[in-house]
Amino acid sequence: MNQEADNIQLERAENLLKQENWAQAHAVYLQIMQDEGESDQLLTKLGQTCFRQSQVEPAIDYFTRALALNSEAVEAHMGLVYCASSMGDIAQAVERCKHVLEFKPGYQPAHVMWASLLLPGAGYTEVLKHCHQKLKPKSYVEIGVESGKSLTLANPPTQCVGIDPKPQVVETISAPHKIFALESDIFFQQHDLLAELGCDHVDMAFIDGMHHCENVLRDFINIEKFSQPNTVVLIHDCVPLDTITSTRERNTNFWSGDIWKVIPCLKKFRPDLGVFTIPAAPTGLGLVVKLNASSTVLEENMEEALAYLRQLEFDYLDEDKSSKMSVIRNAWPSIDRLLPR
Ligand SMILES: C[S@@+](CC[C@H](N)C(=O)[O-])C[C@H]1O[C@@H](n2cnc3c(N)ncnc32)[C@H](O)[C@@H]1O
Repeated sequence: MNQEADNIQLERAENLLKQENWAQAHAVYLQIMQDEGESDQLLTKLGQTCFRQSQVEPAIDYFTRALALNSEAVEAHMGLVYCASSMGDIAQAVERCKHVLEFKPGYQPAHVMWASLLLPGAGYTEVLKHCHQKLKPKSYVEIGVESGKSLTLANPPTQCVGIDPKPQVVETISAPHKIFALESDIFFQQHDLLAELGCDHVDMAFIDGMHHCENVLRDFINIEKFSQPNTVVLIHDCVPLDTITSTRERNTNFWSGDIWKVIPCLKKFRPDLGVFTIPAAPTGLGLVVKLNASSTVLEENMEEALAYLRQLEFDYLDEDKSSKMSVIRNAWPSIDRLLPR
């Protein structure tokens, strides 16, 4: 077949994929391969179309043949990750994600898949939504708004304040809200949070702004001043995946910064707080309860707390991660037990 006819067939197969017509797309790719001979790309497409039809064994065979032609055929590796995962072999799926990242560092689909394999269950937005529904907070503060996705989870009549130096809200937010285009430190210097909320205290907060641990610590301190004993603070990105995705400066698309360090720091300096980690994909959620608006411990010990944060390295979590981070089960009964009634 000539190149032009070949391209037409490829385009036809792509359209069938878009229509999710896996069987027909498979047949077209098979025909192209018969005409043109094997290639790792075509074998990968055949594997993907088999997998989509729940034909896992043939899919594995195609992906393996693709890798025999090109050992770095990344989509074939990812195909095998999905196959292993669908057969419940999580360890093998994780190992293959790590292998892909060895020759393609920072490859986002491998990081995302690895994280979802390690953190099954509700994702962070589902947990946030659950907390809004359960707590029905009168007031809610969100640091780090971006598109507004997490702010849409607040329900009327919750009064919301969002803080983000570069908000890019595209979502429809149903709860009454004010968004301040400011860095959180500046917001707390310039505004009276309670006056902006029109409430006596903050009932619930979500910290998802600057991805550096000392910023998050300051955000927590600033929010706690306006808390009541039943206030719940959630902190995004408290379960780091690996070293490269938890550096302070961003090197990868999938990135949690070094926020996780705030969890052991709060546990050390504020044993009176309830500090937990929910292993919710993609990067976990810190959960802090039993706040005390009159506590000045963190501010008084700021230098020591900052020094503690600075010396923490990723390998601190190599052993005993679960107890160092007070990880709870990502299941509603485990989460609800910690929420105020
Ligand atoms: C990961 S996004 C937030 C996503 C959002 N919470 C969600 O789940 O849909 C992080 C946001 O934090 C904002 N940000 C960065 N530095 C900040 C700061 N110092 N104070 C507040 N927000 C900040 C960024 O502009 C960005 O929009």
